[in-house]
Amino acid sequence: MTQNATGPMKAIILYDSISVGGSTDRFIDAVGRGIAESGAYVEKARCRQHGDYSFVDEFDVVVLGAPIYYLLVSSELLGALSKSNLKQHLRGKRIALFVACGSPEPMANLLYMPQLKMNLEQPVILVERVLSPDQLNNPEAAAGFAREIVGSYERTLKP
Ligand SMILES: Cc1cc2nc3c(=O)[nH]c(=O)nc-3n(C[C@H](O)[C@H](O)[C@H](O)COP(=O)(O)O)c2cc1C
Repeated sequence: MTQNATGPMKAIILYDSISVGGSTDRFIDAVGRGIAESGAYVEKARCRQHGDYSFVDEFDVVVLGAPIYYLLVSSELLGALSKSNLKQHLRGKRIALFVACGSPEPMANLLYMPQLKMNLEQPVILVERVLSPDQLNNPEAAAGFAREIVGSYERTLKP
């Protein structure tokens, strides 16, 4: 079982998408199931730009990501990072990042991933992943991402 100092690892998936019940939601659910299979406790929350993110303090791992629309990370997540207390509550956290987009990976790494990273202070980045629409719809891609998150978290616990 994936543990923190006192019990099972706790992970929160913070995400956004313009669609509800679409490919991002299915991907998030599959990643959550994959992480939970390790024995971890997992929750998910759709971001709201004016939300209160103090609940993030309870979690050992934050999975953070969204699709790209018109060159920008989906607006409620980007807004939460710039307008709410999310950035403050992510400081120093173990974080897994993803963006979903139609662009090739090098372009996404240059243009999109920094929109998330520039808002993180002293993060421990466990994994970062650029997902094509095909990968977003592929349960094996979600399961692989989940395995990498858990494996990388466990490595950060080793002295
Ligand atoms: C309105 C719209 C705008 C998009 N703009 C971009 C873009 O600027 N760059 C990009 O790489 N992909 C872009 N995409 C592709 C989406 O990021 C990709 O299809 C993603 O998987 C959509 O996730 P969703 O199904 O949860 O909405 C766009 C898609 C839509 C529908």
